[in-house]
Amino acid sequence: MLQLQQLEVAYDESTVIRDITMEIRPGQIVCLMGRNGVGKTTLIKSIMGLLKAKKGVITYGVDEMTHKTPTYRARRGISYVPQGREIFPQLTVNENIMLGLEARSNSKRTIDQKIYDYFPVLIEMKDRLGGDLSGGQQQQLAIARALVSEPECLLLDEPTEGIQPNIVQDIQNVIRDIKKQNENISILLIEQSFDFAKSVADYFYIIDKGRIVYEGEELIESEVSHHLSV
Ligand SMILES: Nc1ncnc2c1ncn2[C@@H]1O[C@H](COP(=O)(O)OP(=O)(O)OP(=O)(O)O)[C@@H](O)[C@H]1O
Ligand SMILES: [Mg+2]
Repeated sequence: MLQLQQLEVAYDESTVIRDITMEIRPGQIVCLMGRNGVGKTTLIKSIMGLLKAKKGVITYGVDEMTHKTPTYRARRGISYVPQGREIFPQLTVNENIMLGLEARSNSKRTIDQKIYDYFPVLIEMKDRLGGDLSGGQQQQLAIARALVSEPECLLLDEPTEGIQPNIVQDIQNVIRDIKKQNENISILLIEQSFDFAKSVADYFYIIDKGRIVYEGEELIESEVSHHLSV
C-alpha cells in the first residue's frame, strides 16, 4: 500500500502541496482530480521522488521512502507515465519501450507480448522514431514503457489529455484489463474527465489549491462541478 501522510511539497518558497494524506491500496484504482495548476503533477512527481517532500511521510508497504531516489522507487515497483508523455523523440518506438526494462527489479529482459496486444500499433511502428508518432500513439508508447517494468503501482498523469476519442477508449480498456489481470496492482490516475474517471476508478480524491477537498468511493457530479469548474 502506498501512503502519504501530511505531505507538503514546495518550489523554493512557494508551497504547492499542503497537508495531503491519502492512500492507494493494492488492487485499487484511485483517481485524483482537480483544476489546472492545483498541484496534481507536483503530487505525483513527489510520489516518484522527482520532487522532494518538505514535510510529511511517504510509505510503500513497510518501506519508508520519503527521501529515497526515483531509481529506488522504480526498483520497488512504482512506475510513472508523465503528463505530456515525455517519450524520447529521437529513439525508435522499440528503443523507447526497452528503456522501461531498466526499472525492472528482476533481471528479465524481454518484453511481454501482452504489451503489444494492448497497443498493436506499437509493433507496426516499432522502427519509427518516437517523435514521428501522433500524440495518441506517443501516449500508448509511454504507457507501454511503464508497463514493461511490470509495476506494482502505476502512476498516470492525465493519460487522456488531448488524445483522440478512439485512443482514449483503448486506454480505458487497458486500465481495466491491467486490473483484471493483476489483482494486486494499484493505480493512481490523474484525470479531468468525469466520465473517464468514473468508468475506471474505485476511489476518488479532489484536490484544490494543494489540499484534498473531497474523497470517497463515489464520484459525485456536484462535487466535481463545484471543485473543477472555473
Ligand atoms: N518547476 C516549477 N517551479 C515553480 N513552480 C511550479 C513548477 N512547476 C509547477 N509550478 C507551480 O505549481 C503549481 C501546481 O502545478 P502543477 O503542475 O502541479 O499543477 P497541475 O494540477 O498538475 O496542473 P495541470 O492540470 O495544468 O497539469 C502551479 O501554480 C504551477 O505554476
Ligand atoms: Mg499536471
